[in-house]
Amino acid sequence: MLEKKSVVIAGGGSTYTAGIVMMLINNQDKFPLKSLKFYDNDFERQKVVADACEIIIKERAPEIEFVATTDPAIAFSDVDFVMAHIRQGGLKMREMDEKIPMKYDVVGQETCGPGGIAYGMRSITGVIELIDYMEEYSPNAWMLNYSNPASIVAEATRVLRPNAKIINICDMPVAIKQGMADIVGLKSGNDIVDRYYGLNHYGWWTEVLDKDGNDLMPQLKEHVKKFGYGPDTSKDDNDNPLLMEQSWVDTFAKVKDIYAVDPDTLPNTYLKYYLYPDYVVKHTDPTHTRANEVMENREKNVFSECRNITKKGTAQDTTLEAGEHAEFIVQLAGALAYNTHERMLLIVENNGAIANVDDDAMVEVPCIVSKRGYEPLAMGKIPTFQKGMIEQQVSVEKLVVQAYIEKSYQKLWKALTLSATVPSAEVAKLVLDDLQEANKDYWPELS
Ligand code: NAD
Ligand code: G6P
Ligand code: MN
Repeated sequence: MLEKKSVVIAGGGSTYTAGIVMMLINNQDKFPLKSLKFYDNDFERQKVVADACEIIIKERAPEIEFVATTDPAIAFSDVDFVMAHIRQGGLKMREMDEKIPMKYDVVGQETCGPGGIAYGMRSITGVIELIDYMEEYSPNAWMLNYSNPASIVAEATRVLRPNAKIINICDMPVAIKQGMADIVGLKSGNDIVDRYYGLNHYGWWTEVLDKDGNDLMPQLKEHVKKFGYGPDTSKDDNDNPLLMEQSWVDTFAKVKDIYAVDPDTLPNTYLKYYLYPDYVVKHTDPTHTRANEVMENREKNVFSECRNITKKGTAQDTTLEAGEHAEFIVQLAGALAYNTHERMLLIVENNGAIANVDDDAMVEVPCIVSKRGYEPLAMGKIPTFQKGMIEQQVSVEKLVVQAYIEKSYQKLWKALTLSATVPSAEVAKLVLDDLQEANKDYWPELS
């Protein structure tokens, strides 16, 4: 019998919370729960999701104690895991992050370029607050953090809370590995054993094997060269297996061009913002960005389905479901709780994992996860091209965190200037000044 665990989901009102709840319920044999709590600083928003999840839990796993609260003392006491996914400023501020740079023909993106930097300056405060609550009320707990921009958040926690038990994670490699599995005819991304290195939203695969050790790279490269991680468009039966929205379909297809730059590796989709920023700007509607799509689709769908469940008083025929995003965080909690020694990509302090990158960079590499935490695997030396790109982007992220801590306008300007998405110091300043104005309720006051 596995010992039961207690979890708090911080950002209970997130569009991802219900999916994680569905996954937790489906995993009661592998990750049994004593209690599940929701914590959010927006009572009304969280209540919509919590009321529906309470019904789901009553119907499917009534033994789990459930509480939704805005009180940190209640939320963070007696928990083993904090699953965090907050969005400081909400999707409305994401919209600003995306639209302001576009005014100057610069990439406007949630986590990359100036938008990601602006979001980082908001997020640090919120995530540090969660860590402090966890350390006060459940000092032995682990925080598994999805809150973005994960690389800036990771660097900030490394500097500001160096001993915190936080693991920063990303679901993008997980989703790409599912795409790879589809391409080669495997059932799940979990059937793949990989070697990968880089930063969050900024990395490369050097090896992709199946569980028997067969090399899948040649077959994947053949496919990626023509279709990116998208489906084979020459076949009739290529219904989009991942049921992605068009903007994601385009992102998966654009990998073809990212791959062309370095055909020795397979890339993360997010590299398009750094390698093809001009293309991205040309193909983005500055009046209707991804934030608008998310508000019109995921947010609207999740919240209307939650209201629907509450109104009907039952979730028996609910359309809410758990995906890879939820699977990954629940798998990680299970590995830490029950010592499974699974191999997972995590964002950790380098300390030699990438031999020729600074020890104090926060990198994304495979780790072995067990009761004692995570142990990064050594990825060896990397080529000049990737090393150059990584050093540039690590410096951007470090400058953002220094700017936050020192409240330095100058350092933040340098961070934007150094980003490969920004053409000049002049444009960097124009974008920064607009972002600063839009973020005055969230950023530390800079001088
Ligand atoms: P959302 O706005 O729907 O949900 C975020 C919730 O956090 C809201 O209910 C909000 O009220 C709450 N919140 C904001 N600040 C808070 C604070 N300081 N304390 C407590 N609660 C707070 O956003 P979403 O689209 O569901 O995304 C949630 C987060 O997950 C975002 O940061 C997103 O980027 C991130 N995410 C990360 C990955 C990854 O790969 N790391 C994948 C998916 C989503
Ligand atoms: C992937 C990334 C996340 C990012 C999300 C954005 O899952 O790994 O870090 O937040 O995409 O997706 P969205 O649907 O909100 O644009
Ligand atoms: Mn991510």
